[in-house]
Amino acid sequence: MTATNPPIAYTATHKFLHWLIALLVISAVIMGIAMVNVGRGTVQNVLFDLHRSVGALVLALAGMRLVWRLLHPVPAPVPGLAPLQALAARAVHVALYALLFAMPMLGWAGTSAFGAKIMVFGLFELPPILARDRALSATLLGIHGWTGFAFAGLFTLHAAAALHHHFIRKDATLRRMLPSRWSRG
Ligand code: HEM
Ligand code: HEM
Repeated sequence: MTATNPPIAYTATHKFLHWLIALLVISAVIMGIAMVNVGRGTVQNVLFDLHRSVGALVLALAGMRLVWRLLHPVPAPVPGLAPLQALAARAVHVALYALLFAMPMLGWAGTSAFGAKIMVFGLFELPPILARDRALSATLLGIHGWTGFAFAGLFTLHAAAALHHHFIRKDATLRRMLPSRWSRG
């Protein structure tokens, strides 16, 4: 990274991956909550399959996004941000990145230990990463569930901060993460 010459914009790929992943994570949380409450049956089975598939897609896209980010530095915080606020924003971003990997991995490990198949959009199967162990599965999926709620809390906070920047501080933080036709001017 060139600290003396930081880029002024996010790349189109970075923006595309940010919004696609955000959409998928939000739908994974909604499906996760729905599927554990809907009761046994076809709807539950479909939701389980879709939830696992979307989660697996998030893991793959998060990997691509991390590689992209390491190769393409992102802009510095907008001018005028207090050092403590910049640090808080950075801490939340790091935590969000960590959760993008931890959530699917916990789900994959817990489902493997349960002994259930993980079909990704009906196309291929993910191999199990743990041997069958129902007690371990219950622990891992319990952690997965609670971490899911923490994730939802954190991205809500993150989105609220972005809206605060846009509507209250009226700075470029949100605009520069939007497609370039909106981020100009
Ligand atoms: C970004 C990715 C993911 C998010 C945000 C997410 C979120 C959630 C949430 C919020 C729940 C509901 C928890 C509850 O109400 O108790 C849940 C349940 C579950 N998730 Fe995920 N999940 C993700 C990825 C995955 C993946 C990749 C798998 C498996 C391959 C998976 C397997 C499961 C299973 C089996 C449950 C049910 C747990 C139970 O029976 O208590 N999840 N998930
Ligand atoms: C699950 C949902 C979301 C996740 C996981 C997420 C994750 C992230 C991460 C990791 C970054 C840091 C980018 C980097 O440094 O590479 C970021 C930046 C950003 N996000 Fe999100 N985000 C989500 C939803 C949202 C929503 C709903 C909004 C707007 C309402 C939003 C607005 C922004 C903005 C404006 C930035 C740029 C911040 C800056 O330049 O300082 N995000 N997001």
